[in-house]
Amino acid sequence: MSTPLVNKPPGTAGQAPDAATAAPVVLSASGLVKRFGGITATSHVSLDLHQGARHALIGPNGAGKTTLINLLTGVLDATEGRILLDGEDITRLPPHQRVRRGLVRTFQINQLFDNFTPLQTLAMTVAQHRGQGRRWWQALGADRAVNERCEQLLAEFRLLGVMDQPTRTLAYGKRRLLEIAIALACEPRVLLLDEPVAGVPAGEREELLRTVAELPADVSVLLIEHDMDLVFSFAKRMTVLVNGAVLTEGDPVQIANDPQVKAVYLGHGDSPSDPPSHPHTASTQPQELSHG
Ligand SMILES: Nc1ncnc2c1ncn2[C@@H]1O[C@H](COP(=O)(O)OP(=O)(O)OP(=O)(O)O)[C@@H](O)[C@H]1O
Ligand SMILES: [Mg+2]
Repeated sequence: MSTPLVNKPPGTAGQAPDAATAAPVVLSASGLVKRFGGITATSHVSLDLHQGARHALIGPNGAGKTTLINLLTGVLDATEGRILLDGEDITRLPPHQRVRRGLVRTFQINQLFDNFTPLQTLAMTVAQHRGQGRRWWQALGADRAVNERCEQLLAEFRLLGVMDQPTRTLAYGKRRLLEIAIALACEPRVLLLDEPVAGVPAGEREELLRTVAELPADVSVLLIEHDMDLVFSFAKRMTVLVNGAVLTEGDPVQIANDPQVKAVYLGHGDSPSDPPSHPHTASTQPQELSHG
């Protein structure tokens, strides 16, 4: 059931310890607070995302990961704190203006137009992003730049074989691939992925993992995920969130060996058979990190 990830070579092996933080900061959150009535979902969170980042945000259910993404993208207004994108204050900008500036996300729960095909969905997104939103159906087939971009995205996200099928008929893994392709169609500089593997059956995970690994190197990615195979194969930097606050941040080796992190999330070094307390389904459960 559980995989001792400590025995696997982490992604940062052989790199300088500060390799993931040497690049300039693209997205910076400082002192973010979000209160819902009496509940503090986000508690003074500060986080820097560097150019080309492969940064994972992990933590137990209810830790505030999705809330943080919602604050960063403007779906929720921060109660306190500040968000800078390329040094510019975007704390009070509406979501669509953040997308325009290159801050794009995917959702934890799949959100797609079920009756559209992947090609139509991407054509609409690409055309809209290029200011041709009202005429996207004309752009589809007639506009060479739009067509080329769609073809490129369909190929990159392994969707060519299903591009003309209504989205509702696609396997769940393909739907999740389409979601990330849509985000990429917005030409992001920063991409926030909220549990891209959640709910994807085992047989379809490999394709998704490979695609996430092949995301453009210049895009800065913040990944929320409970799947520790994906997290540890992907991330060069990790932030652990617990009860709305940052417990710690570090490279994968530091996080894997942090006793506090093991205690609250990744498993218990003393009792390897204890599953982490976690109400999620099996597909989204964190796997135990170390058998101590
Ligand atoms: N709109 C809301 N109103 C009230 N409370 C909320 C709201 N959104 C989130 N919360 C609360 O904020 C806390 C953090 O929730 P959040 O969804 O951000 O956690 P999460 O880390 O994404 O969890 P999961 O791993 O299950 O997706 C929870 O206690 C949740 O109940
Ligand atoms: Mg969440």
